[in-house]
Amino acid sequence: MSNLSATSLRYDVDGLSILDQRLLPSELVWHRCTTANQLIGHIHSLAVRGAPLIGLAAALMVAWRARQGIQGAALLAELEALRASRPTAVNLMNYLDRLSASIHSGASAEQIEQLAVQLFEEDRDLCQRMADHAQTLIPSGARILTHCNTGSLATAGIGTALGAITEAHRRGKGISVWVDETRPLLQGGRLTTWELAQAEVPYRLICDNMAASLMAKGEVDLIMVGADRIARNGDFANKVGTYSLAVLARAHDIPFYVVAPVTTVDLNCPSGDTIPIEQRAAEEVRGVSLPERSLIWSPEQAEVYNPAFDVTPARLISGWVLDTGVMLERFIPSQAGAE
Ligand code: MRU
Repeated sequence: MSNLSATSLRYDVDGLSILDQRLLPSELVWHRCTTANQLIGHIHSLAVRGAPLIGLAAALMVAWRARQGIQGAALLAELEALRASRPTAVNLMNYLDRLSASIHSGASAEQIEQLAVQLFEEDRDLCQRMADHAQTLIPSGARILTHCNTGSLATAGIGTALGAITEAHRRGKGISVWVDETRPLLQGGRLTTWELAQAEVPYRLICDNMAASLMAKGEVDLIMVGADRIARNGDFANKVGTYSLAVLARAHDIPFYVVAPVTTVDLNCPSGDTIPIEQRAAEEVRGVSLPERSLIWSPEQAEVYNPAFDVTPARLISGWVLDTGVMLERFIPSQAGAE
């Protein structure tokens, strides 16, 4: 059996462990997950988050359960429960489809585990390929704005958009980063800042509503974000607040790029209108809702609208960076590698 290790996930002879991303950057706490229900709880609470990582954690949980002797219909029932744990990021469904096919074809526990390990290793390679392709879009000295967290915490490798950005830094391009804090759960403020500090990439943290005036002042050269699902026509869903950045980018004539692997492409989704958008708990917007740091500032019963993601239409996107290459202006499904 292989030992796997990424920034926020480990898999070994004792099973799956996840780094609790809700507690970062102040605490590094790992949880051992031995049941599908435990992992589902961690996915709901966003202890485990980021489109590729959610899918990989679920795939490794299925592998672990198979090794524990869970088989056939019982294993498939756990797989389906994991599939329902978050609705928007399609990587979860893509990975579990592949495992489900192998279970249906009578694969042994070892074969199921081998497949999950292969998915993990593939994701690491996809990250590096995206980062390599993205370099043609990042000029020296670029001031790059990004949203949410799309780095090594969210994948098995260096990340998607943030992986491309840290790669540009590693190549000595002298870039700097504007980090959107990403209300309501502050993935930018807590996680992206943490990753950039570790990689020694110069950055400045901003509140989401500061991006417009920065662009107006000419302080942003390009925007790079990740995706939770890319539809057949190139529309994509990502963390709420991404669409406003795309509108602002168009108004200020700034290139707006999305970086995602083939596992994020959903050719069965004709357009962004059909991407399911997760609605989350009201407490997240009534204040700050993180373990041991919760604070409500609105009236306790304030009515809330809290979609976790929004959809950016293809017409606002300057380019799609996939592991297969860069597509400028137009999304070409056959080149996305998902068919
Ligand atoms: O709710 P989250 O934190 O899982 O949302 C994450 C994002 O929106 C990311 O941009 C996306 O999953 C890509 S991560 C490589």
